[in-house]
Amino acid sequence: MTSPDLPAELKAALDARLRGFSRNDAADRAALISKTYRDGGGSGTIKSETDALAYALARMPATYAAVTASLNALCEIRPDFAPGSLLDIGAGPGTASWAAAEAFPSLQDFKLLDANDALRMLALDLVRDSTRLRDASYERGEARATLAKAEPADLVVASYMIGETSDAEQKALAELMWQKTGDTLLVVEPGTPAGYARIIALRERLIAAGAHVAAPCPHDEKCPLAAPDWCHFTQRLQRSRAHKQIKGAELPFEDEKFAYVALTRAPDVARPSRVLAQPVVTKVEVTAKLCTPVGLAITKTPRRAKADYARARRWRWGDAVD
Ligand SMILES: C[S@@+](CC[C@H](N)C(=O)[O-])C[C@H]1O[C@@H](n2cnc3c(N)ncnc32)[C@H](O)[C@@H]1O
Repeated sequence: MTSPDLPAELKAALDARLRGFSRNDAADRAALISKTYRDGGGSGTIKSETDALAYALARMPATYAAVTASLNALCEIRPDFAPGSLLDIGAGPGTASWAAAEAFPSLQDFKLLDANDALRMLALDLVRDSTRLRDASYERGEARATLAKAEPADLVVASYMIGETSDAEQKALAELMWQKTGDTLLVVEPGTPAGYARIIALRERLIAAGAHVAAPCPHDEKCPLAAPDWCHFTQRLQRSRAHKQIKGAELPFEDEKFAYVALTRAPDVARPSRVLAQPVVTKVEVTAKLCTPVGLAITKTPRRAKADYARARRWRWGDAVD
């Protein structure tokens, strides 16, 4: 399992970039960028070097943690998957590429694409001294146009990106991303009902095109959850001093809620059930909400079933369980 916290090389690169910048200025810009995201806006407000750095300090630790948690789930289901090449679409400061480099020592060829030049410049600066990513290529341009020209990759990732595009664009992008996927496509979105809806729409479209779900779903059938319920997960991450300062936060950690789907071309993946919420443990029983290969189940494991109870007590939200 890869740690959800930023790797030391990336932390050091971010700290080095922060020197010489006013933290108050970065905090003001981070607050503005966060407000834009909360109000449903995109990364268009990130225009300058300071904006890009503020985004990276305020949001990169959380999006990194969400991508890492999704990759950990994928690796658990497909332990033999060893991609050599990565396409990171809407790469921003390079978050998903850093996470994938940590999760897959096999990765050698990193290609990043994004329309935002301030984020692209920051990403190139951050990877300059990285052992794994210094030779990454980063193309600036609209996702569809740059993707159309790109060579397929074993692993394709779009992290917190598709929500910045229109519904029509999401349809076209989903198909194009799948065309460029040699083995596995991972899409990660905020863990909101809207983020989940985008994931579900893309999932359905690509299953119809021949994809299989590797994670989180244990099946390729329609999602059994009905509104107002939605499938999402949470990942805790540590906040550095700079992260706390930028966010004006006291707590030394935060919990990032995210939704994701990993779709693969491999047809015969064994998929256990998925824990969809933190199980409730009492002295009498463990109650868990599971997505199983045959649908949704609320399981109750009584204490008298000693071994099963001990096993169910250890279940955590997001785990794959038999
Ligand atoms: C919220 S940021 C996420 C960045 C990064 N993937 C992460 O997880 O931290 C969304 C990124 O998608 C990019 N983006 C949005 N729409 C795009 C499009 N149509 N073409 C290319 N990039 C796009 C933005 O420029 C921005 O860098």
